Amino acid sequence: MTDRKKVTLPMLFDKITKGTPITMITCYDYPMAYLVEQAGIDIVLVGDSLGMTILGFDSTLPVKMDDMIRHAQAVRRGTPNAWLIGDLPYMTYQASDESAVLNSGRFMAEAACDGVKLEGGQEMASRVRAIVSAGIPVMGHLGLTPQSVSSLGGFRLQGKSAGQAKKIVDDAAALEEAGAMAILLELVPDQVCGLITQRAKIPIISLGSGPNADGQLLIFHDMFGLYPKFTPRMAKQYGDAGKVIADGLKQYVEEVTSGAFPEPERYFGIKDEEYAELLRLLDSPAPSGSRP
Ligand code: KIV
Repeated sequence: MTDRKKVTLPMLFDKITKGTPITMITCYDYPMAYLVEQAGIDIVLVGDSLGMTILGFDSTLPVKMDDMIRHAQAVRRGTPNAWLIGDLPYMTYQASDESAVLNSGRFMAEAACDGVKLEGGQEMASRVRAIVSAGIPVMGHLGLTPQSVSSLGGFRLQGKSAGQAKKIVDDAAALEEAGAMAILLELVPDQVCGLITQRAKIPIISLGSGPNADGQLLIFHDMFGLYPKFTPRMAKQYGDAGKVIADGLKQYVEEVTSGAFPEPERYFGIKDEEYAELLRLLDSPAPSGSRP
């Protein structure tokens, strides 16, 4: 693995005191997590976006707690040192403080997460308070909150009017007051993100909300061309792994079809005398030529 130190909450707060940006990424499985660990990323979110990027649904709503646990366990095996956050999926915390605490506890006990994330502002303050009282760190998520995509009217910029922006600023204050350890701002205007960051004492992470935050988050599949349906404008593409894989698969089909694969160095034989003995045991002559 790597010899870096395990990221802790004090280390994240130390970064904001020193003005060193926090790096954060979503991640869903072991091989991705292994690469993320090598890159030394601070915070890894096992996002319920896996409903779309991994499971192929059109939204995050069908994702279940058991799906999240399975993926969080795999991610933890790949990145033992990142600060790992489990994303509470739809309807695992909205109904009651009790459901919020119990499902957050599953991420900690079953997947060795360091904290959880939930969507929503003032209306979720009591959930945040309950989870934090159970000793579990919570990241809030404001702005474009995909679990409320229907009421938000689609995947679009939030807080464009002064009134809407004020609600996001008030929501951030309420989450911090309730004990959230950090807040993710997804797709809110740059100036609104800057204002919230200035006022907050906890790390503010931007996803498509500009540079005036304590850290940045991108979704792994958007960064590497691995989500075929669309790439949002906020997502910078750092490579096209999707094209590399597609080209490789095309070549594989061609080589199997033409007989170029497998090459002699990719398979194994037995000694001639063993093969002759095998034929004798089977009481059959050596096959000649190929099948029709
Ligand atoms: O599920 C997820 O990956 C998220 C990000 C969009 C922040 O919540």
